[in-house]
Amino acid sequence: MIECSAEPSVMAGMNGNPSYVINSNLVGTLNCLEAVRKNKATLIFLSTSRVYSYDELNKLDIINMGIRYDYCYTSVVANKGISFNGVTEQFTLAGPKTMYGATKYASEIMINEYAAMYGIKSVINRCGIIAGPGQFGKTDQGLLALWVFHYLFDKELTFIGFDGKGSQVRDFLDVKDLYRLIEIEITKINELKGNTFNVGGGRINSMSLHELTMKCNSIFNKKLKVNHSIETRPGDIKVYITDNENVYKIAGWKPRSDMTDILTDTMQWAKINKEKIRVLFNG
Ligand SMILES: NC(=O)c1ccc[n+]([C@@H]2O[C@H](COP(=O)([O-])OP(=O)(O)OC[C@H]3O[C@@H](n4cnc5c(N)ncnc54)[C@H](O)[C@@H]3O)[C@@H](O)[C@H]2O)c1
Repeated sequence: MIECSAEPSVMAGMNGNPSYVINSNLVGTLNCLEAVRKNKATLIFLSTSRVYSYDELNKLDIINMGIRYDYCYTSVVANKGISFNGVTEQFTLAGPKTMYGATKYASEIMINEYAAMYGIKSVINRCGIIAGPGQFGKTDQGLLALWVFHYLFDKELTFIGFDGKGSQVRDFLDVKDLYRLIEIEITKINELKGNTFNVGGGRINSMSLHELTMKCNSIFNKKLKVNHSIETRPGDIKVYITDNENVYKIAGWKPRSDMTDILTDTMQWAKINKEKIRVLFNG
């Protein structure tokens, strides 16, 4: 079973009622685990980088390089969970994570418990931002698709939070690369079972909103107006970049797509589905 169902919004529960996100994410995983146990199946779980606390990540020494934030050398030296590549699996799991992150982490704990008690073979992938064709682009999930939709419909962009300068950084994982990793994990489940991997686009595919906008301007050959909203959304993170070293060492996987590939593929798909996307995007 590939457990990739979720309420994936980091804003979920902020309206004061967390029952929907808890039921979808934690209870949903428990239902999957029971099905896996009863059917003697194996489990691949799509978890999230959001299991790492936004507070702990924002407490790191971070350098503001004008157009992007990045981890300071002092963070790499002082924190075993930060390398020159980014965040490793050694990063603390303490601290607030949003309801989304907490429910995914609770699911991870239960997966490991089922593995210990019932011998279920499982792999956990803590994914950074996933991107590529086929994704709904919303302000709280699906950032790269959201950017592409703005270029498709010539809409004004908005940099939200952290002074509204678009300096916040994420790494982008092509869904094709993620698919390739899941194939490896299914094929080699006996060898890979019990592992928890950080999985993302990595430093090479990391960009601030500002850099993403410059890249889109150049690839799509147009310049959109950018608005600036200074209010930072609760639970937002200045910089998250995945260190893929562990998954590379153990599973032999690393991303192949670069940002040009991901943006080009997403735009190609968006153009084909323009009228359907217009309805969702209000374009
Ligand atoms: N998109 C990202 O950047 C990202 C990053 C890290 C991890 N993930 C994880 O990847 C997985 C897929 O996320 P996505 O971004 O494609 O989100 P998505 O919303 O496009 O897909 C989630 C799917 O789960 C389904 N679902 C929700 N509750 C369900 C239930 N109770 N039973 C059956 N199906 C249910 C939804 O209908 C939806 O089709 C999720 O587990 C998410 O936590 C996503």
